[in-house]
Amino acid sequence: MIFTIPDLLSPAEVADMRSRLEAVEKAAEMVDGKLTAGWHAKAVKQNQQLDAKHPIAGQLVKQVRQQTLSHPLFQVAARPHSLHTIRFNRYSDGMSYGRHTDNALMNGHRTDLSFTLFLSDPDSYEGGELVVEGMDREQDYRLAAGAMLVYPSSSLHRVNPVVSGVRWAAVGWLQSQIRDHGRREILFELDTVRRSLFAQHGKTDEFDLVSKSLSNLLRQWVE
Ligand code: NI
Repeated sequence: MIFTIPDLLSPAEVADMRSRLEAVEKAAEMVDGKLTAGWHAKAVKQNQQLDAKHPIAGQLVKQVRQQTLSHPLFQVAARPHSLHTIRFNRYSDGMSYGRHTDNALMNGHRTDLSFTLFLSDPDSYEGGELVVEGMDREQDYRLAAGAMLVYPSSSLHRVNPVVSGVRWAAVGWLQSQIRDHGRREILFELDTVRRSLFAQHGKTDEFDLVSKSLSNLLRQWVE
């Protein structure tokens, strides 16, 4: 399941984050994205990254982590176990990240879901689509600044060349409590039905039964 959180950051939060990143870029302190790519992804990764050891990195990572984990849709659709890695990157002047799949393990954690938090207004750059390949087709995304796309780390995906302007984004990876995407989707749908039943009819017998099934599936599948 691929899902979007349209309002993860407010326009003011995006503007503040981007101005801090732009100051790093002006000071020529961004580093080569290849430094954190796996050996096969290095060949196709052309972007700039905020060094994890840069003085502002800790604050920015903390803010994205907190706002992501506190978002109710993220909680129920991703079921995070640990949101273990967050990075900030910049694409301009034809930079791209060719087709690749993300490493299965990062910092000792499994990667189940990947996300991109778009930090640039899509009208301010050309190209730079995040393209995610599905079983039978591919889908491309250029979301509004402040919106997040969450997609399976197991997918093949790429970032098309940015042909004009600058594309800033935060990217991250998490290990979910539910490893299997199909099971996570079932839990999400049952929870959606349960909330809808409650909103329409209150705490009925049907609500109780769906809640029981949801809890018992969680008990079987959670890790
Ligand atoms: Ni990737």
